[in-house]
Amino acid sequence: MTWLLTGGAGFIGCHVLRSLRSSGRDVVVFDDLSTGLADRVPDDVPLIRGSVSDQALLEETMREYKIAGVIHLAAKKAVAESVAKPLWYYQENVGGIESVLAAMVNCEVGAMVYSSSAAVYGEPETSPVREDICLAPISPYGETKLVGEWLTRDVALGSGISWTALRYFNVAGAGHPELGDPSVANLIPIALRSVREGKSCQVYGNDYETPDGTCLRDYIHVADLAEAHTAAAALTEANQVGLPINIGTGSGSSVLEVLDSIGRALEREVDYEIVARRPGDPPALVAAADQAREVLGWSAQYDLDDMTASAAAAAGLRA
Ligand code: WQD
Repeated sequence: MTWLLTGGAGFIGCHVLRSLRSSGRDVVVFDDLSTGLADRVPDDVPLIRGSVSDQALLEETMREYKIAGVIHLAAKKAVAESVAKPLWYYQENVGGIESVLAAMVNCEVGAMVYSSSAAVYGEPETSPVREDICLAPISPYGETKLVGEWLTRDVALGSGISWTALRYFNVAGAGHPELGDPSVANLIPIALRSVREGKSCQVYGNDYETPDGTCLRDYIHVADLAEAHTAAAALTEANQVGLPINIGTGSGSSVLEVLDSIGRALEREVDYEIVARRPGDPPALVAAADQAREVLGWSAQYDLDDMTASAAAAAGLRA
């Protein structure tokens, strides 16, 4: 089967690409290269450069390559940016999934794996969070991800598309040193940049009701995340499904534990300073991971030290 991978030139996309091919599936990448890198797409993989809002190009591509399924990753994903530019986020993220689904219906493509996010949960009162709790995103980014889930569900009801929405928790690490996360937008890359620049890492608050007072997050290795997509592709190929699935380890790590792990990877202490809380940070956001295990037959294989060591190597800070 041939899968269309939107956003396949991105940090997560290039790992998903490799996992799909290792499973024997053919892949066509569709990417506008606004943040993706063309050299992350192997020469023997077709790369169609275009916007996911271009429905005509999507349909032309689906027909030309006889696409059987779509893994839709292409989206904007910076929470703070979405607060500053909500209209752009809705245009890009909701407009994008709208065009992809319309093209799928017109081309009779029957399987969809949609990249969603733990951001749909907002600030949940319980942790770990199960997929069926009340969803209350607190950023335009999280809202666009949730609207994308609803749109996928509603279109699938009428068209028979088999789908799953993978709710990513905190993605980190690198499957290969040359495939590290080029954006410095999340804790681990930010901390590694602080080390490189000889500065202290800022810890956003240590007065939360958690074991060491800093926020807990469920960090998931990007290589594990990629395998989850291949498992989801197999699920939607073989079954008529329609559901969201958490992609996390099921256990949380605090900010200080992450810095300690980076310290082990670099064999040196990571300097940090406690600063004010960042608005909108829930104390804990940890996945209930049993549905991924039971429905996808998938569970995370890598731990936090694997993530920080591979991220440090990709950042050139560790052999
Ligand atoms: C992690 C923890 C911060 C930086 C994001 C987005 C979204 C989603 C998951 C895709 C928090 C703390 C951070 C720093 C710090 N991905 N921190 N100092 O906000 O949990 O979630 O990633 O859908 O992109 O929702 O990730 O890496 O920003 O923060 O103390 O310099 O580290 O307070 O507790 P977040 P993050």
